[in-house]
Amino acid sequence: MDEKEDILNLRTQLHRYNYDYYVMNSPSVSDMEFDKMMSRLQELEDRHPEMYDPDSPTQRVGSDLNDEFRTVPHRHPMLSLANTYNLTEIRDFYQRVSDGLHGQPFQICAELKYDGLSISLHYRNGRLEQAVTRGDGIHGDDVTANVRTIRSIPLVLETGTAEIPEEFEIRGEILLPWQNFERLNAEREQSGEALFANPRNAASGTLKSKDPKVVSRRGLDAYLYYLLGDTIPSEGHFENMETARSWGFRVSRDMKLCNSLEEVWEYIRYWDTHRRELPVATDGIVLKVNSIAQQKALGMTAKSPRWAIAYKFQAEQAETTLREVTFQVGRTGVVTPVANMDSLQLSGTMVHRATLHNADVMDALDLHVGDRVLVEKGGEIIPKIVGKNTDGTHGEAQGAPIRFIHRCPVCGTPLVREAEEASHYCPNDLHCAPQIIGRMEHFVSRKAMNISLIGPEMIQQYYNNGWLHDVSDFYRIRHDAKVAESVARSTDVPFERVLFALGIRFVGEIAAKTLARKFKNIDALMSATAEQLLDTDSIGKVIAESVVNFFASDENRALIEKLRLAGLQFALSDEQLAAHSDVLKGQSIVISGVFSHHSRDEYKRMIEQHGGKNVGSISAKTAFILAGNNMGPSKLEKAEKLGIRLVTEDDFLTMIQQ
Ligand code: IVH
Repeated sequence: MDEKEDILNLRTQLHRYNYDYYVMNSPSVSDMEFDKMMSRLQELEDRHPEMYDPDSPTQRVGSDLNDEFRTVPHRHPMLSLANTYNLTEIRDFYQRVSDGLHGQPFQICAELKYDGLSISLHYRNGRLEQAVTRGDGIHGDDVTANVRTIRSIPLVLETGTAEIPEEFEIRGEILLPWQNFERLNAEREQSGEALFANPRNAASGTLKSKDPKVVSRRGLDAYLYYLLGDTIPSEGHFENMETARSWGFRVSRDMKLCNSLEEVWEYIRYWDTHRRELPVATDGIVLKVNSIAQQKALGMTAKSPRWAIAYKFQAEQAETTLREVTFQVGRTGVVTPVANMDSLQLSGTMVHRATLHNADVMDALDLHVGDRVLVEKGGEIIPKIVGKNTDGTHGEAQGAPIRFIHRCPVCGTPLVREAEEASHYCPNDLHCAPQIIGRMEHFVSRKAMNISLIGPEMIQQYYNNGWLHDVSDFYRIRHDAKVAESVARSTDVPFERVLFALGIRFVGEIAAKTLARKFKNIDALMSATAEQLLDTDSIGKVIAESVVNFFASDENRALIEKLRLAGLQFALSDEQLAAHSDVLKGQSIVISGVFSHHSRDEYKRMIEQHGGKNVGSISAKTAFILAGNNMGPSKLEKAEKLGIRLVTEDDFLTMIQQ
């Protein structure tokens, strides 16, 4: 059969399987089968670049298009909904609708209020054209490149139960499912990065990421709940959403058409508890008048439609007795006050500890031992104390007032609080046990030295036994065969990751990479002044000072020497050195066509190593196109029109060798 035809068939099938898997939750082929078809498609597409299609299932892994978001106007403003917190206001809403419709019968569509980020998707001729965030409601950010990586958002629509309008907009919510949220936070904890407080923040951070590959990996999901356009299929909102589902969108199956206020109550009562079984976060119920004609008749106020309302669930609160406040020291020395309370049941789990965040939050609550405190578990994972019951009816005498501490609870060193920072921290980083242990855990973690056979329990035990004093001891003490092998393997870990593994405050993965590239070896970095550090791209004052402080310590310098003797990499390898230059500095380069010497990914890496940037689409700013064979006709035309130079594979390789 014709390969081009194969490409088209594979695309149709893979779109279908994606839909079954991500929207229907019922995979129709095995993962292996799916992967096989995907790589077959990739292979054929590589052979036929003229068949390039941005909507192909192979493009889901994330292209590397724009790195700045464009702000665009919304075609229809994105209004929010009036919020209510009690059932009386729901009754009032129902009555207002009835009055506004002069007693006509009406139906209410009740649905869940998803707690994520609203998104507006534009489709033209059955293809996703643009995705825009809510922004200020009038303008939003164009996040199309990121949204394209979300598997449950169709790039190409299916033939459904009604004709697809030539052009329409559909709105919904982007969410990070609980499971993916927990996995992400576990990974972040491992690498010492700040945790996201709730899935909404995580989804927001993810959607605004500059790298669609990151977005693709994190596993966002989307539920759609509102169809707009001049020619939408039906007169009822509920029916429209069913049709949208048949086109391939994920539309909640938990929507319900209600014919009376009683049915609305029933829906709210049911979901107030059962929402906890859903895979994504919800924070309420949305009620919408179902008929579009009636919606139009009711109209809008300045801020929100008169035909819809949101009812927010109460974050679950309960009262218990405060027994004690303890103070925890983290890997970076930050001290967090933690309330220890009599156990209570909250949102389905037993709770007996709650965070008090920092000294300001704690002082504002004015806590005493024996206080009756109100504990809340809202969108956040960790419960918090939101107030006290001061009506005095509980009769328990007020105990001693609780104050923030002045010395580290573990090592006794006076705590420090930097101006403008919320947290106190223990400055005794070298000798304070939780900080030492935290650094050791960081050192062996996957993105650092990746010594996977040494885990937190082993570190704690070895530390207690007095076998571990600093991370160089991992290379000195005797391990059993398997562990010894994984420790030995870590001596091949490249310089930039060794630098990250040292756990210098504020030096994350990216900063470590940048510093390694600029200074090339540890000696140059150790003797760098703050000014020299500041002269590095994207290294600011906070990081520069932290690096200088770290290497000013004799103990840290001694540690470096011990690690050097153990054979760790403290310089870029010859290969890394040879492969770097500035010849492409500041140039945006498009890769197109099929190559014979290296793969596309390899060329992409070379461009970056020589200071250039690989971009996905041709514009006036493109420096040149690295052109292989069979470049697509539309790209050729665009290049010609803008007068952009084509550089062959061989010329490119010569160019970077200089
Ligand atoms: S309808 C004009 N339906 O809640 C009606 N919104 O303040 C447009 N939301 O910004 C919104 N679930 O981000 C609608 N089932 C649902 C929703 C929902 C969550 C969000 C949305 C909106 C906010 C309302």
